[in-house]
Amino acid sequence: MVNFKEEIAALIAAHVEGLTAEEIGAMIEAPQDKSLGDYAFPCFRLAKTLRKAPPLIAADIAAAISGQPLFAKVEQVNAYVNMFISRAELVGEVTKEVLNKGADYGKSDIGQGRTVIVEFSSPNIAKPFHIGHIRSTVIGNSINKLYDAMGYKVVRINHLGDYGTQFGKMICAYRRWGNKEDVIREPIKTLLGYYTKFHEEAEKDKGLDDEAREIFARLEHGEKEEVELWQWFRDESLKEFSRVYKMLGIEFDSYAGESFYSDKMPQVVQMLKDKGLLEESRGAEIVDLTPYGLTPALITKSDGSSLYITRDIAAAIYRKKTYDFYKNIYVVASQQNLHFQQWIKIIELLGFDWAHDNIHVPFGLVSLEDGTMSTRHGRVVFLEDVLNRAVEKTREIIVEKGVNTDNVDETARQVGIGAVVFQELSNNRIKDYVFSWDKVLDFNGETGPYVQYTHARCASVLRKAGLDAGEDAAEKLSAFNAQYLTGESAYDLCKLIYAFPQAIIDAGEKYEPSVLTRHIVDIAQAFNRFYHDEHILTDNEEEKLSKLALVKATKTVLRNGLALLGIEAPERM
Ligand code: ARG
Repeated sequence: MVNFKEEIAALIAAHVEGLTAEEIGAMIEAPQDKSLGDYAFPCFRLAKTLRKAPPLIAADIAAAISGQPLFAKVEQVNAYVNMFISRAELVGEVTKEVLNKGADYGKSDIGQGRTVIVEFSSPNIAKPFHIGHIRSTVIGNSINKLYDAMGYKVVRINHLGDYGTQFGKMICAYRRWGNKEDVIREPIKTLLGYYTKFHEEAEKDKGLDDEAREIFARLEHGEKEEVELWQWFRDESLKEFSRVYKMLGIEFDSYAGESFYSDKMPQVVQMLKDKGLLEESRGAEIVDLTPYGLTPALITKSDGSSLYITRDIAAAIYRKKTYDFYKNIYVVASQQNLHFQQWIKIIELLGFDWAHDNIHVPFGLVSLEDGTMSTRHGRVVFLEDVLNRAVEKTREIIVEKGVNTDNVDETARQVGIGAVVFQELSNNRIKDYVFSWDKVLDFNGETGPYVQYTHARCASVLRKAGLDAGEDAAEKLSAFNAQYLTGESAYDLCKLIYAFPQAIIDAGEKYEPSVLTRHIVDIAQAFNRFYHDEHILTDNEEEKLSKLALVKATKTVLRNGLALLGIEAPERM
C-alpha cells in the first residue's frame, strides 16, 4: 500500500536541500483539525539553513509540489505546508489493500522472525482463579497476538505459581481435615477452604507452621507421598484453569511454572556466590541491592528453601538459553514492581548483557462495585463465575432486544465474553478500575458489543446484497470505483482503516492493547456515520458495489482488530 507520509517526504526532499527524506518524514504532522489538511509540514527548522523566513519557504514548497496527483490541494498557511490527499487516491488504495489482504490486513514484518516471550496469566495452583487474574490473562493474550501480527515468533508461557511454602500448608491441612471426594468434586474451592482453615488454626496452634515447613522441605526433597499430593492438587487446579482458558479462547505454548525451576536453583545460588553477590544475613542468603536504591533480595531462607525471586532468576536464565529471546515480556500486576526491579538488577549484576530485554509490563487493580476480593479470607469472585454471568446477562439482553441470531446460546457466549474482555482492554492498563456490569454490557457505548454489533451490521448489509462470501463476491467487489467513496464520512472511515496497521505497531511497542481498542471503536463509529449518511443499497449498480466494497473492508478490519484483542466477531447480532 502507498505510504502517504513517505511519498510526501520524498516529494518535499526533492525541493529542500540539507534534509533527508527520512528526516522530513519525521517532521510531517497529521493535524487534529481536518480543515488544516491530512498532513502538514512545518518549515521553522529550515529557516536557518535556507536563510529565509519560514512562511516563504512554505510557499515555495507548496508551489513546487502542488501539481502532484497525490494531492487534492496544497496550501501554505503561515510557516506550514498543508496538504490534502486526493480522496479517491487514498480511498482506492486502502479499500483495494484490505480486500486483497483480508485476514492479513494489519500485519507487518518488523519483528523479522525474532523470538519474543510473553509470560501471562500465571495463576497460583490450588488458589482461586479470580477476577484479579483477568487482567494479566487478557492483556497478555492480546500482547502476544500483537507481536505475532508484527512478525515476531511468540512463545506464550504460563508461569504457574505451583511451588512454595503454601503447598506445605495445603498438604498439612488436607491430611488433618481433608477429604478426597470433596477435592475431586470441587477442587479449588475445597483446597482454598483448607488453606483458610490452616491460617485460622495456625493462629491457635503455633506448631502447625513448623509442620507445614517440614512438609514443604519433604516436597522439595522429592519425597514420594508429598510429591503425589502436590501433583494431584496441580492437576485438579489446571483442569479448572483450563476451563476458563477455553472460554476465553486462550492457549499457551508452555506451562513451565515455578516448580519447573526447583532443580535449577542450586546453580543460581552458585553463580551469585561466584560473583561475590551473596551475603549471609541471619542464616538466610541475600543480595544487597541498597546501593541501587532497592531493598535487599532474599535468595534462600534459613531453612535452605528457595524463594519466588530465585525461581524468577533461574527462569530468565533458562529462557535465554532455551529460546534466545529478543524480548522476554512479563504481564504482571504493578504490586510486583519492586520484585521485578530487584531480579532484573540481579541479572544485570551477574553480567548478562540481556538483562534489560526482560520487560515487566505492569497493570493496575480491578475491583468490583461491591468491594475488592481477598484470598486470605475466602471472600473472592471467581473469574469463571464472572464469565458465566456475562453470558447469562447477555442472553437476557439478546432475548429482550430481539437480536437477530439463529443461535442464541452461541451469540450470548461470543458477546458476553467479548464484552468482558473488551472492557478489560479499553482502559490504559496501568490505571486501577472498577468493574461495572452496566458499562460492560452497554450495546451503545464504547464497548465490545458495540463493535461486534457494527461488524454484524456490515455482514448483514453484505448478506442483503448477496455479496457476503465466495470468490464470486470478492471479484465483483474488487471492481469498485473509488469516486463513489469520496464523501466526508467515507473518507474519514478510510483514513482510520489506513491507520490500522500503525495502531497495531503502536499498541505492541507500548505493550498497550487499549491503543488498538480505541482505534477499532473509532472505526466502528466512523462506519456508523457512513452508514447513516450514505444510501448504500442504491439502484446505481456501480455505486452500490463500490460502497459495498468499503463495507466489506470495514468488516474485515473490525474482525482483524477484535481477533487481536482475543474477541470473536459474530456474523449476526
Ligand atoms: N503467580 C504469581 C501471582 O499470582 C504471578 C507470577 C508472575 N510471574 C513471575 N514470573 N513472577 O501473583
